[in-house]
Amino acid sequence: MEFIVSYNSAPEIKIFDNIELLAEFIGIIWIDQIQNLESNNFYSLALSGGSTPIKIFQYLSTNYKNRLNWNRIKFFWGDERCVPPDNNDSNYKLAKEILFEPLNISEENIFRILGEENPVDESDRYSKVLQTELCSRNGIPKFDFILLGMGEDGHTASIFPQEINLFHSHNFCQVAEHPISSQKRITLTGKIINNASTIAIAAIGESKAKKIFDVVKRNREADPYPVSLVNPLEGKLYWLLDKESASLI
Ligand code: 6PG
Repeated sequence: MEFIVSYNSAPEIKIFDNIELLAEFIGIIWIDQIQNLESNNFYSLALSGGSTPIKIFQYLSTNYKNRLNWNRIKFFWGDERCVPPDNNDSNYKLAKEILFEPLNISEENIFRILGEENPVDESDRYSKVLQTELCSRNGIPKFDFILLGMGEDGHTASIFPQEINLFHSHNFCQVAEHPISSQKRITLTGKIINNASTIAIAAIGESKAKKIFDVVKRNREADPYPVSLVNPLEGKLYWLLDKESASLI
């Protein structure tokens, strides 16, 4: 297994009784980090897609409407499916319906990946958006917070095991391909992911338990997983789990 010889800083593993408590934990981090922003700065946040964020976004848009200064956040994505923004596969559409519309988030603070565009052109364009919109550390755009998920195959963002090399790309974004559907994706690469100040990998459910064991316990017999390469250079990594996904650790 291609794994991290040593973490730059040990990941913090949090196990929650339910996803609402997991979402609450994220909300509290956002409140704290936004309060500590320098006055003229914004909070750069990259969202993930898939099903796990649905309840996280629902909880936060319901319970944090007035607990968080949402106007201080600029929203980006860790990955996007190469589909139009009104397609049910779109990560943007998911966030728009569950988070942005209920919270009246201003369009000017939303930097979606244009899934409807040519993937290679959009990958290049989004890389430039990150350089323009984000602060940088070591010359690399730096997110304040990246929310990631983990697939049952150990993928994260849209870096799948079959294309694990994309994690090490010199580019900030890459075009990826889903191994089963062949759907094209745009994904952040490890260069951006590991430059973030805070990364939270939210993975719940029994189906994730084995991969979480392999990654968290660094099982050397396991296959290489992209998620095992998430290792912030100077930032903090949280694994946000439930009892089922943490059942083997
Ligand atoms: C995506 C996500 C992807 C997701 C994992 C887990 O665009 O699909 O960014 O990386 O986080 O596939 O998905 P679930 O939350 O549905 O298990």
